[in-house]
Amino acid sequence: MTHTTPPSPEEIAREWHARARRAGLARVMRAQQPPELGEAVTEETRRTLARLLKRAGQELPEGIGTVLEIGCGIGRLTPTLAAAARRVAALDMTPGMLESARTACADLDHVSLHLLRAQDLTLEDVDRLVGRPADVTVCVWVLMHLLDDAELAALFRTLSLATRHLLLIEYERAAVPVGRFSRLRPLSHFLDLLPGSRVLERHELDYGGDRSFAALVDTGLSGGAR
Ligand SMILES: C[S@@+](CC[C@H](N)C(=O)[O-])C[C@H]1O[C@@H](n2cnc3c(N)ncnc32)[C@H](O)[C@@H]1O
Repeated sequence: MTHTTPPSPEEIAREWHARARRAGLARVMRAQQPPELGEAVTEETRRTLARLLKRAGQELPEGIGTVLEIGCGIGRLTPTLAAAARRVAALDMTPGMLESARTACADLDHVSLHLLRAQDLTLEDVDRLVGRPADVTVCVWVLMHLLDDAELAALFRTLSLATRHLLLIEYERAAVPVGRFSRLRPLSHFLDLLPGSRVLERHELDYGGDRSFAALVDTGLSGGAR
């Protein structure tokens, strides 16, 4: 087994800064995959998100009011979230990504964009951005880049008090091993961090042999604050 030193927060920020300067979908998808695959997977991801958001809406008496998107990148999925919700707050840690997201969401008055790291998210942030609890919090291919288990656990403690549903799309298996800026975890790892939660719906996404789960999770918060 090879052991590599985990990247420092500064290295991680530099890596995402560099990725934000790539072209097109390579900014938010694996650079070694062919571009046409990126387009097809993006379409399939949008369809999967729309389907899971529809299901979340059916669970809520007034449909989806608020969505918090963590790690929105260039905003390729944010308009899909905006089509399903009355208000969306999207956050990302990389200024260059947010700049592109601003363009992607320019016509969407009910979308706001924020520079924030997932691991720094507080309950006060959620109150300020969308009001607590959010109906749905969406993370697509972002928690795999939150490498530190303690930071992930802290984020989930916040989310357990901040959101009614969690919509996760994350890698479970990679055909070509991922590098030191990514870490694969199964859905069960995330569920263990959310005691009392349950999976409402789960799908699989295949991307050039890479396998991701797409899951809608009820955090157990419905009905008010814990
Ligand atoms: C693989 S991209 C996915 C972006 C978007 N969800 C999509 O699917 O198009 C990951 C994004 O998460 C952001 N990111 C990585 N780690 C983050 C963290 N700890 N907090 C907030 N954003 C993060 C990166 O800047 C990048 O824009």
